[in-house]
Amino acid sequence: METVKLSNGIEMPIVGYGVYQVDPAECERCVSDALKVGYRMIDTAQAYYNEEGVGAAIAKSGIPRKDIFLVSKVWISNYGYEKAKASIDESLRKLNTDYIDLMLLHQPFCDRYGAYRALEEAYKEGKLRAIGVSNFYPDHFIDFANNVEIKPMVNQVETHVFNQQVQAQKYMEEFDTQIMSWGPLAEGRNNFFTNPVLEEIGNKYGKSVAQVALRWLTQRGVIIIPKSVHVERMEQNLNILDFTLSDEDMAAIAKLDTGKSLFFDHHDPEIVKFFMTLR
Ligand SMILES: NC(=O)c1ccc[n+]([C@@H]2O[C@H](COP(=O)([O-])OP(=O)(O)OC[C@H]3O[C@@H](n4cnc5c(N)ncnc54)[C@H](OP(=O)(O)O)[C@@H]3O)[C@@H](O)[C@H]2O)c1
Repeated sequence: METVKLSNGIEMPIVGYGVYQVDPAECERCVSDALKVGYRMIDTAQAYYNEEGVGAAIAKSGIPRKDIFLVSKVWISNYGYEKAKASIDESLRKLNTDYIDLMLLHQPFCDRYGAYRALEEAYKEGKLRAIGVSNFYPDHFIDFANNVEIKPMVNQVETHVFNQQVQAQKYMEEFDTQIMSWGPLAEGRNNFFTNPVLEEIGNKYGKSVAQVALRWLTQRGVIIIPKSVHVERMEQNLNILDFTLSDEDMAAIAKLDTGKSLFFDHHDPEIVKFFMTLR
């Protein structure tokens, strides 16, 4: 598996499996299937309510813990130093492990500085091998990265062919922060799976629309965590490193960028008000 090196020197697989919207009752089966087809990085979060399923699948897989890269995220209801600290231990318990490879702050709201101090402390104690943030767009990200002791090693943001985050990635590089995509298949929105540009490129290589879009991300150095509950799609989404898109293909896909979220805007005051109901 191809890896990327984080700023603290640890290697992280560039392709992983995400479990957002995977029903807690189905999560163990899904992660077991993902591990069987070859995934070695799993992305979960406290807010997905399925950390136990991830932990159970890993424990039963027989794969040494050191060969699996495990990612989770602290939810805003657990922000502030004390609550975040307790929630890290709770995630460790639910995931049935004594360390998490990468822990992220899930959203850029509420007492994120207090929460991040708990991440920094757990990192120093060896409970977390790497730490970072998610959904921190350039304004929040630059402010935050300048005011914490340990720079975020990863920033997980919505990144796909319709919202490419080219400038955001450049800002992250200034802090040696690795970009990680959520929604790499745009969750199928905007007629993603029948996009004619992606279909035409896929036909040249004998690859699906999903595979072309995922390969395009990894060729830009973006870490991906596509989600599927179907084993054949899990396999498809993993088998993307055996072909290379040409410069011409990369340029054609670059033109699909709308520079906007397909989901919601973290700067919209109504969205911020909505997040405040989730504290
Ligand atoms: N940090 C954050 O705030 C945040 C937000 C959202 C997501 N995430 C993370 O990012 C991961 C991926 O994002 P996502 O789950 O939102 O969306 P996604 O991976 O872009 O898309 C998943 C959707 O595509 C379908 N699909 C997957 N592979 C396919 C294929 N090869 N052909 C056709 N359809 C396919 C899935 O359906 P089936 O399952 O039915 O196959 C599902 O409906 C999440 O699971 C989560 O770990 C993080």
